[in-house]
Parts: sequence; structure tokens; C-alpha cells
Amino acid sequence: MKILITGGAGFIGSNFIHYLIHTRPDWEIVNLDKLTYAGNLANLKDVEKDPLYKFIKGDICHPADVKKAMAGCDMVVNFAAESHVDRSIEEPGSFLRTDILGVQVLLEEAKRIGVKRFVQISTDEVYGSIAKGAFKETDSLNPSSPYSASKAGGELLARSYWVTYGMPVIITRAANNIGPYQYPEKVVSLFATNALENKELPVYGDGLQVRDYMHVYDHCTALDLILKEGKFGEIYNIGAGNEMPNLEMAKFILRELGKPERLIRHVTDRPGHDRRYALDCKKLRALDWQPEYDAEQALRDTVRWYAENRWWWEPIKSGEFRQYYERMYGKR
Ligand code: NAD
Ligand code: DAU
Repeated sequence: MKILITGGAGFIGSNFIHYLIHTRPDWEIVNLDKLTYAGNLANLKDVEKDPLYKFIKGDICHPADVKKAMAGCDMVVNFAAESHVDRSIEEPGSFLRTDILGVQVLLEEAKRIGVKRFVQISTDEVYGSIAKGAFKETDSLNPSSPYSASKAGGELLARSYWVTYGMPVIITRAANNIGPYQYPEKVVSLFATNALENKELPVYGDGLQVRDYMHVYDHCTALDLILKEGKFGEIYNIGAGNEMPNLEMAKFILRELGKPERLIRHVTDRPGHDRRYALDCKKLRALDWQPEYDAEQALRDTVRWYAENRWWWEPIKSGEFRQYYERMYGKR
């Protein structure tokens, strides 16, 4: 089995590569990644010498890069994306390019060479916000940000390749992942590393927005199952049911690290901020999947990882990140 992982130098992609190397030691893995600010080969330092793993630096929007990386692959899992909502509010163009046009380039090549399974990694953000209850896969799409609108475009395109060409496409919509190797712009990795540096935790608005904080390991087990048993043309929600308001999450992180609550600073809210995400995951559970981590276990494990792996995030926070942080939070 030969599998192409795109965006494998990012947070979830690199965790999934680690997962596959441990659970499918005979699979050949190709990782195609452009190495944007979010792509980091340090995430894969321990696997780079594995003879069945190959890294190719390239852009999913470039047909020649995609052709080279996909050659001989049986399966494709597309993680590559611009993934941060706040950056999409600043500059939507690169989101449309990678998250929509890049998907089309991948689908075309997969169609041309007859890939046997194409998994498009989408997000629960395509549904928009839900006050009560949980979204089912059949609910309508109401994306709120340029990021989620682009992800909706990418997955709709993937679906169209199933309907029109009968391509073996599966779409997944996951909740907020947390865990090792997450670029420290996302809230949990940002709050944990800020707390470790005795810096403020910038909570947007009242902090009562709710997210389902799922451990990335649980996302990996779900994807593994979907690769084996998911049905073509289907959409699968992937959530752990770990709902927690942001303010509570911030306080939990501070408690875990023995830091004072006065580090919390309420700042101007994100424009178009979705209040709550929640997924109905009966379809995935019917495949006999369940998460291992509840909210507190997922947060505890994540915080511990950042506390023990300063070598990983300190260089990031002293690079491009500094200007980003100043732009995003300086006058907020
Ligand atoms: P990330 O930002 O950490 O990683 C994205 C990776 O894609 C990076 O390595 C980057 O270099 C690469 N990339 C970006 N543009 C590229 C291009 N044009 N060509 C090739 N590579 C490119 O993102 P993540 O958090 O790991 O998310 C992975 C996927 O999962 C994304 O599709 C995202 O929309 C989706 N998702 C993320 C979450 C989450 O909580 N992080 C939840 C649900 C879905
Ligand atoms: O739900 C899945 C999505 O989760 C993925 O598709 C996205 O790729 C991923 O970035 C994530 O999006 P969110 O916008 O939910 O994640 P973020 O970490 O940016 O924010 C989580 C919550 O925390 C949200 O309610 C905004 C809030 N927040 C975020 C930051 C960065 C803060 O209060 N302060 C912050 O500094």
C-alpha cells in the first residue's frame, strides 16, 4: 500500500504520519508539503530516516508537484490547507487558492491515475454555529469565515468528483484538534505556551464560545478506520463530544501549569466568531469508533507535551510568529 499524505509537515498530518508508521509499518508513505509558516519538518525528525517514508517539498496547486508525489499511490489523504481562521480574516486569497484550487489539482491527478481512495479532510466549521444540539452530516453548510467557506468549497468539489466521475471520495469533518506539534497560533497551543512564558492568555470576547477539544490521536484512529471501512461518497463527522467553553479551557490550562488566573486578558472578539460547534457522530460510532481522551485528559496531555518540548515551540515563537502576534494582538 502506498499512500500520499499532503500537508504532512503540519499539525494533524504529522501526527497521522507518526500514527501510520506505528500501525502500518509496511505502508509506503509520501508526504507532499509546501512548508508554509505552518509546515515544520521538526515534527517528523524521528521518522525522516524511515526507508518507507519520503518527503517531497511542493505545492498542491502545482500539477507537476502533485504528479510527482502521487505517482504509484493507492490512496490520498489531503490535509494540506491554510488552516487558521484569524489569518483568513486578514488575507483570504491564499485560503481560496490552497483550500479550493489545490483540491481540484489533487482530484484531477487522482482521477487520471485511478487512485483507489481519496479522503478530503474538511472541518466542522463548514456547518457554522449551532446554539443547541449537534450537526448531522446531512445538515446544510453555512460557513462563517473565509477559511470555512474555502474548506466548504474544497469538499463540495471533492463530492462533485464522486457524483460526476464516480471517484472514490470520502469527506471527513473534524472538530478542534489539540495535541503535539500544533503551531502555537491555535488557541490551546497558544495558551499553553504563553502560560509557560508567564504571558497573558488573550481570550476573545466573553470567552463563552464552545469548542469540542478532541485529542489529535483520536482523530488519527478515526481516520484510520475511515480509510479501511468508510464508504465512498459519504461524509463523516469526527468529534469527541469534549465540549468546553474557552474561558474554562484557559483556566484549566493555568491550573495545570500552576499559573495565576490574572494571566487571562479579555480582548476584542474575532469578527464573525462562531459561538458553538457540536457534531453528531453516530455514523462514525456505527463503525465502532470511540475517542480515548475526554476533554480534561486531552488538555492535560497537550499541556504536558508543550511543557516538556520547549525545543519545538521556542524557535517558532521567536520567528515569523512574533510579527504575526504583534499584528494580531498588539492593539487588540
Ligand atoms: P496546519 O496549518 O498545521 O498544517 C497545514 C499543512 O499544509 C502545513 O504543513 C503546510 O505547510 C501545508 N500546506 C499549506 N498549503 C499548502 C500547499 N499549497 N501545498 C502543500 N502543502 C501546503 O493544519 P492542521 O491543523 O494540521 O490541519 C490539517 C487539515 O485538517 C486542514 O485541512 C484543516 O482544514 C483540517 N482540520 C483541522 C482541524 C484543527 O483543529 N486543526 C480540525 C478540523 C479540520
Ligand atoms: O473546528 C475545527 C477548526 O478548529 C479547524 O477547522 C481549524 O483549522 C482550526 O484552526 C480550529 O478553528 P477555531 O477557530 O475553532 O480554532 P482557534 O484555535 O483559532 O480558536 C478556538 C477558539 O478559541 C475560538 O472560539 C476562538 C478562541 N480564541 C482563539 C485564539 C487564537 C481565543 O479566545 N483567543 C485566541 O487567541
